[in-house]
Amino acid sequence: MKKVLVLTGAGISAESGLKTFRDSDGLWENYNVYDVATPQAWAKNPALVQEFYNKRREQCLSAKPNAGHLALVELEKEFNVQIITQNVDDLHEKAGSTNILHLHGELNKARSSVDENLIYDLKGKDINMGDFCEKGSQLRPHIVWFGEMVPNIEIAQKMMRDADYLLIIGTSLNVYPAAGLVSFVPAHCKTFLIDPNDCPTGNISNLTTIKEGAGTGVSKAIKIILQDM
Ligand code: OAD
Repeated sequence: MKKVLVLTGAGISAESGLKTFRDSDGLWENYNVYDVATPQAWAKNPALVQEFYNKRREQCLSAKPNAGHLALVELEKEFNVQIITQNVDDLHEKAGSTNILHLHGELNKARSSVDENLIYDLKGKDINMGDFCEKGSQLRPHIVWFGEMVPNIEIAQKMMRDADYLLIIGTSLNVYPAAGLVSFVPAHCKTFLIDPNDCPTGNISNLTTIKEGAGTGVSKAIKIILQDM
């Protein structure tokens, strides 16, 4: 079975009502990202960071997958599909995709602030100051903040090396190391970029650009792949 790698970003969830990061004057849901999504922010004002992510988690609880997420589930009937997502929402899971690697963490999980291997499923609940891990330290959101290592990046690079097709959906390709993943695909790989706006595509070879939202654009890319099989 041929292998389709999918790299998603905030844009795939835009039509589900979740805001992207760079479409609103450098603010994310009215917060400066450096006040809420860095280790420094956590050190300075952990309660604000918790409040921010508690709100994001609540928003995600009611969000539903859109046609873009659902089209990727259908693709599993014909291909070996691996999704690598920068998103911290769970819309790929809610849609029913099977193989999902989260690069930047997951909103619906908490982790120990002293042991990154102690991860807990939140089942939609808030994290509050005073909620501790089993080692007695404060729980924090299971999110990769700016300036932190991306633990899954090497696994993602390895996955990219096996791709026959790559779908890049709804990412501005601005944030590294995630944006650098596209350079790991083999020469024979055919790449599709689905985004209503221009993105820095650099030297991606074999590239087809579909300048549309994910809701319609993903199905169009899949149609081309099915004809190409
Ligand atoms: P960005 O906000 O940087 O980019 C979103 C992309 O989605 C843009 O290129 C938009 O043009 C596109 N877009 C908007 N509406 C769309 C739609 N309906 N369908 C498809 N695409 C659409 O988001 P990311 O690239 O995901 O990191 O950002 C990468 C990382 O930076 C995030 O994971 C996050 C952020 O800061 C962390 O939180 C660590």
